[in-house]
Amino acid sequence: MSKVDVLLGLQWGDEGKGKIVDVLTPEYDVIARFQGGPNAGHTIEFNGIKHVLRTIPSGIFHDDKINIIGNGVLVEPCIFAGEVATLRAKGINAEHNLYLSRKAHLILPSHRMLDAANEHAKGNSKIGSTLKGIGPAYTDKIARSGLRIGDLEASDFKEKYELLKFQHMQMAHTLGFDIRNFTLEGMSLEAYEQKWIESLAVLRQFHIIDSEYFINDCLDKGKKVLAEGAQGSMLDIDFGSYPFVTSSSTITAGVCSGLGVSPLRIGRVMGITKAYCTRVGAGPFPTELFDDTGRLLGEIGHEFGAVTGRPRRCGWIDLPALRYACMLNGVTDLFVTKADVMNDFDEVKMCVAYEIDGVQTQQIPFALNEVEIRPVLKSFTGWKQSLTHAARFEDLPANLLAYLHAIEEQTGAAIRAVSISPDRKDTLFR
Ligand code: GDP
Ligand code: IMO
Ligand code: MG
Repeated sequence: MSKVDVLLGLQWGDEGKGKIVDVLTPEYDVIARFQGGPNAGHTIEFNGIKHVLRTIPSGIFHDDKINIIGNGVLVEPCIFAGEVATLRAKGINAEHNLYLSRKAHLILPSHRMLDAANEHAKGNSKIGSTLKGIGPAYTDKIARSGLRIGDLEASDFKEKYELLKFQHMQMAHTLGFDIRNFTLEGMSLEAYEQKWIESLAVLRQFHIIDSEYFINDCLDKGKKVLAEGAQGSMLDIDFGSYPFVTSSSTITAGVCSGLGVSPLRIGRVMGITKAYCTRVGAGPFPTELFDDTGRLLGEIGHEFGAVTGRPRRCGWIDLPALRYACMLNGVTDLFVTKADVMNDFDEVKMCVAYEIDGVQTQQIPFALNEVEIRPVLKSFTGWKQSLTHAARFEDLPANLLAYLHAIEEQTGAAIRAVSISPDRKDTLFR
């Protein structure tokens, strides 16, 4: 009997999860997404070509591996059909090795409208949602009124759809949202809805499975399964910087409910962190830099959202937050990405504690957005060189190794690999 290994983000998303999943896929038989939806943008680069995945697991570029969209994931049919078409144009036919859970919930066009209505109603306290309908679709799931992929097979799907849409229209109206002027991807709601309905035909071409049985059966047969997370631990619905979070359980616990596996079947937990820190959208970010260093991290790191194109906010790595994420997830292996972005820095810093009201703490406060935090910074001498000569982890410059050792010391988790470029080949394992 084998176990499910987990790979997830330890910060506020965009840690480079897609790249690392792709690098590790040869070691696995099955890659399964367990939560989130098309709010994710996972970038994979090889042979000079860049791919961005939204709902489809990052193992899809390995033809002999099975990829699963688990029950905990939200599927938006138009965006999914777009992803499938983009892959097909690149010669990748996902139909044979991508399976979808019958229990995964659907994002309706009116969920996306409600996302916009909710943000509109929040005014200055908006979350900066990706507006993909994530919050409203998970709300319906919990409220027991959502529609699932399995419902597509039912004869009353259309009636259920219309009822849900009607409720959404009423809610948007109550929020004072102008439905008539609302557009989605440059289309009227009606035009987008038409496209959405057509896209259901694409969904139906895929293997729709009871993924909880499928995955447990694979484990019984000794097959190796990797669970791929989206977003990051600091965006988790329970433990993230609430209310500036996403609406799913982004931590290891989410794997059990998002795929239907027992906690006893969780194996290694691989946590991904950038060598610094970014956040896209609104919400607290204790180590954010508003100076030239922050601007440089963004420029050199090409820190623009893979989904929305929004500039990502940048800052030093936040060890109290990272330590918290390691605790919540039970991280066994750390992966540090984008070390190369700081190659030219004279000095590199890390936040080792928060100072709140003159008192130092390593604990994340209840309302991260309501307290004034002064990050306590530790300084390291920069390594001031390109990393391209390094063929192995041990070849990395001494100053970078010192910085990495400090991360291990502060988090208690061992680094398994360091990523030094967006490309699949530039990943140095220990
Ligand atoms: P994900 O959402 O966690 O999969 O991450 P994203 O794809 O949204 O963002 C990570 C970005 O960093 C992408 O553009 C990757 O191509 C890029 N990237 C990943 N690893 C590295 C690295 O080690 N160095 C550099 N320079 N870029 C990287
Ligand atoms: P990946 O998987 C970074 C952020 C949004 C917003 C908040 C809520 O690529 O790391 P939502 O659309 O879920 O209602 O947005 O969460 N967010 C992400 N930030 N990476 C992501 O995914 C994100 N998914 C959501 O910017 O602040
Ligand atoms: Mg991303």
